[in-house]
Amino acid sequence: MHLLIPAAGSGKRMGADRNKLLLQVHSKPLIAWTLLATEAASSISWIGIVSQPQDWDEFKSIIADLKLKKTIELISGGSTRQESVYNGLQALPSHAKQVLIHDGARCLATPDLFNACSEAILNCFGLIAAVPVKDTIKVVDDNGIIRSTPERKQLWAAQTPQGFDVKLLKQCHAEGIRQGWEVTDDAALFEKCGIEVTIVSGEETNLKITTPQDLAIAEFILSYRE
Ligand code: CTP
Ligand code: MG
Repeated sequence: MHLLIPAAGSGKRMGADRNKLLLQVHSKPLIAWTLLATEAASSISWIGIVSQPQDWDEFKSIIADLKLKKTIELISGGSTRQESVYNGLQALPSHAKQVLIHDGARCLATPDLFNACSEAILNCFGLIAAVPVKDTIKVVDDNGIIRSTPERKQLWAAQTPQGFDVKLLKQCHAEGIRQGWEVTDDAALFEKCGIEVTIVSGEETNLKITTPQDLAIAEFILSYRE
């Protein structure tokens, strides 16, 4: 299975002075934990890290330190996650039929989750890892007034990995450019194009590290796992 890792963000909500994926958590750069999980996932054979060229020296030295056996390509990132994934898709080897996309910032996803997604995408066109929402979710207007309460049993929190048929995902990205759609995950492009996306059971610990609080929780989970 081919895997693209969007890693070209700047981590504004983390408030650090550089890409949050280069910050240390449990004695390694955050992205190192993501890469260790993908290295341990037997289904993954090719990895592309989509990242800003200014970070490439650091990424290269992290990859070298981890002594990874899998092929890892560095691909230039875009100014949004959507653009970064688009660039990644163009850089896939031409024989790639399916692809998994996994945010570099989700450094706690386990090898089992990658393997489950790799297997499931062989039997559908699109999938995402997701977990049922535990909170009651409110739809709130610009004035801070609640407008509705969606039924919780229909709500799922989207995670990555997300898996897709490469040809279809390329078509959906092209349509997104034509229509000017701005989305925060690739499943949303499939939905807008009317193509079914399936749910695979995600992991409660598969957090997207976004804020300093998330970094502290990741530190705790990684030390607990050890
Ligand atoms: N990402 C990317 N290219 C971008 C923006 C984001 O590849 N232009 C990646 C991030 O590196 C991250 C993933 O997409 O692994 C999810 O994005 P997010 O958590 O929002 O990370 P940042 O955009 O870096 O953070 P922020 O939104 O707080 O600036
Ligand atoms: Mg972002």
